[in-house]
Formats: sequence, C-alpha cells, structure tokens
Amino acid sequence: MAMEIDVFTLFPEWFEWFACQRHVRNVLARGSRLECVNFRDHTPLSGGQGDDTPFGGGAGMLLRVDVVEGALRARYAADPVDLRERRRVIALTPGGRMLDDALARELAAEPALTLLCGRYEGFDERILEHFCSDRLSIGRYVLAGGELAAMVVCDAVLRKLPGALGDESSSSEESFSEALDGGPEYPHYTRPAEHRGWRVPEVLLSGHHERIGEWRRERSRERAQAQREPGER
Ligand code: 6GU
Repeated sequence: MAMEIDVFTLFPEWFEWFACQRHVRNVLARGSRLECVNFRDHTPLSGGQGDDTPFGGGAGMLLRVDVVEGALRARYAADPVDLRERRRVIALTPGGRMLDDALARELAAEPALTLLCGRYEGFDERILEHFCSDRLSIGRYVLAGGELAAMVVCDAVLRKLPGALGDESSSSEESFSEALDGGPEYPHYTRPAEHRGWRVPEVLLSGHHERIGEWRRERSRERAQAQREPGER
C-alpha cells in the first residue's frame, strides 16, 4: 500500500526536515510520495505574494482563492471544484474536524491526499467552500499556520503504512488502537531492570506471554478509567 501526499504551502522548506526522518524515509522508500507545491509559484501578484488582507478589516492575512485555484490547476490539470469529488483535498484549519486515530486510519486507507496549509488568519472562505473535501484540526488551539498541523497529519498517517516502523506489529497495539479498545497504551519498560530501586514489574521479566498480555490489557483498562474520572466528577 503506497500513498501520495501533496502539501500546498507558502513554506515548502519546512517539510525538508520532516521528509528526512527515519519513519518517513522508510515509507517513501516503499513507493509512497510526499511532495510540496509552493503557492508562491502560482500567484498573479508580484513578489510571490500568496496571501492578502481581509475585506472589512481586521488583523492577519488570508490565503487568496485565486492563488489556491492556480496552484491546484497547475498540479492536477483539473478544475478544483471537480477535483475534490475524486480526491481528498484537506484544509488545515483550527475549526476543522479533530484528528484522532480513527481519522488517521481513514486517511491512511486513501491512495492520495492533498493538504492545504493556510497562513496567519487562514483561508479565504471560498477556498474551504468550493475546493476542499475536508477541514481538519489537530487541537483546540491556534497555530501561526497549517504547516505544523500538516506535518502532524502526515506523521500520524504515514506511520500507519507498511514498513514505516520497521516492526509490523508496533502500530496495531498502540494507544487508542482497536486492539486496546480505543484505550491508552500500557506502560513500557526497558533495561536496566532496576534503577535506584525502581524495579520493572516482575511479570514482564517472566517470559510468560499470556500473563504479560493479560497484565498489559489490565493496565490499559486502568489508565482508561483514570482518564475518564476527572470529567465524571
Ligand atoms: Cl490545522 N491550523 C492552525 N493554524 N492552527 C491549528 C490547527 C490547524 N489545528 C490546531 N490549531
């Protein structure tokens, strides 16, 4: 399973660092693609300007609808209004659907994704309304732009693809996965078995896989319980 991700941004150089991280390189070596399109290459304005001030006044800058249309047309040789019918075109915006494990899994099953990064105050509303199939947020706080959020989405999605983590079993039984009923992960330990008198739970050293599995599911359930309690009071 390979995936093609196109990231549209005013700051493509941010993604150079991301693309050379081990788990990303692993999936790219297996036929997936991660490429950037620079909005500045498609602007009708001088000086590579891709954003503009809001009508009606107010702080910040917005990505222009004509710039985004030019960039999408150049990349896909199609009207962006039709494109979103056959390809996930995702705007990163703080008001969007919150990213979680289920959404990451859903996106990882797609053959191709387009991620649009807004800057400063975000997008001209017509971009969201006419060009995008999805609006996605990574949490209830505001970042200066969509780039870091796009990297979070890429990370969460790409590490679900075969070969990303080296060990095939490692993403199926992690926090929030179905194998743990959507619960948090159990605690992990590595060498040394004792440090300052803090001992690793004996069962993990036993080599008894059934008991270890039981212990882990039990700890995961406990953590889920502990996380629910504050909200219930
Ligand atoms: Cl997707 N974009 C921005 N600018 N801020 C965010 C976000 C996205 N998700 C959380 N905060």
